[in-house]
Amino acid sequence: MSDQAKTNTTQNRRRDYPAGYGVVEPVANYRPWDTDAAFSEVYDLVREHTMVDVYRLWTLWTLAGQVPMGDLLEIGSWRGGSGTTIARAIGRRADGAPGQLYLADTFAGVVKAGERDTYYTGGEHANTSPEIVRELLRNAGVEGVELLVGIFPDDSGHAIDQKRLSLCHIDVDVYQSARDCFEWAWPRMVSGGVVVFDDYGFYGCEGVTTYVEEIAGTIADGAPIVVVPSLSGQAIVTKPSLDSRI
Ligand SMILES: C[S@@+](CC[C@H](N)C(=O)[O-])C[C@H]1O[C@@H](n2cnc3c(N)ncnc32)[C@H](O)[C@@H]1O
Repeated sequence: MSDQAKTNTTQNRRRDYPAGYGVVEPVANYRPWDTDAAFSEVYDLVREHTMVDVYRLWTLWTLAGQVPMGDLLEIGSWRGGSGTTIARAIGRRADGAPGQLYLADTFAGVVKAGERDTYYTGGEHANTSPEIVRELLRNAGVEGVELLVGIFPDDSGHAIDQKRLSLCHIDVDVYQSARDCFEWAWPRMVSGGVVVFDDYGFYGCEGVTTYVEEIAGTIADGAPIVVVPSLSGQAIVTKPSLDSRI
């Protein structure tokens, strides 16, 4: 467990939570991340560069290994840990990488915090830079990842406007950014493409929980939004195939 994850876990257990919150302790006991050597190698490389715990990284690793052809986008890369995990996962696919990976961040911290957000006020997690992310990617032996600098989609969405996405990891902490990112990405998702909201199940990220619960069971771009809430804290939405669109 990384220092960051240890700190989070300790704080997690000590807190007095309001109703509806508390430490989640699933009873499942299959732990493939412990025995997957390729994953363990990348986890060791990224663990001090990420706020994302091993369970959520494993979700990203397995999804990136399976998604159909299409480009991949992470919005909210911070120091590059989860983005590098995705990069290594697509780099080892037997069928070849499904597409180009883009990592987007303001590199100036969280933006668009508002009244639905209980903890964030803006500017948090600014302790990163494009060079920190590039260095991690280099250390991991990853080439060809493109960084998108600025608020997404407002500042940098235009650079990939015509792309079709197979995986979109949204890790932006607050309601309005999560909403803007999802509304931009959903019409660009290929059939079978997957959107992962990182912040859905976390105290302090209630804005994202609110947004995901607003869109669950609705229809957008002619496609039903069926949310799978994961006990990792992520929320996962797969774009259905054309045949099942309404
Ligand atoms: C919790 S951190 C991401 C953690 C990261 N995925 C990791 O592996 O540790 C959230 C990041 O989202 C970025 N961010 C928030 N809103 C954004 C937006 N609309 N566009 C681009 N980056 C954004 C922040 O700058 C911050 O670095």
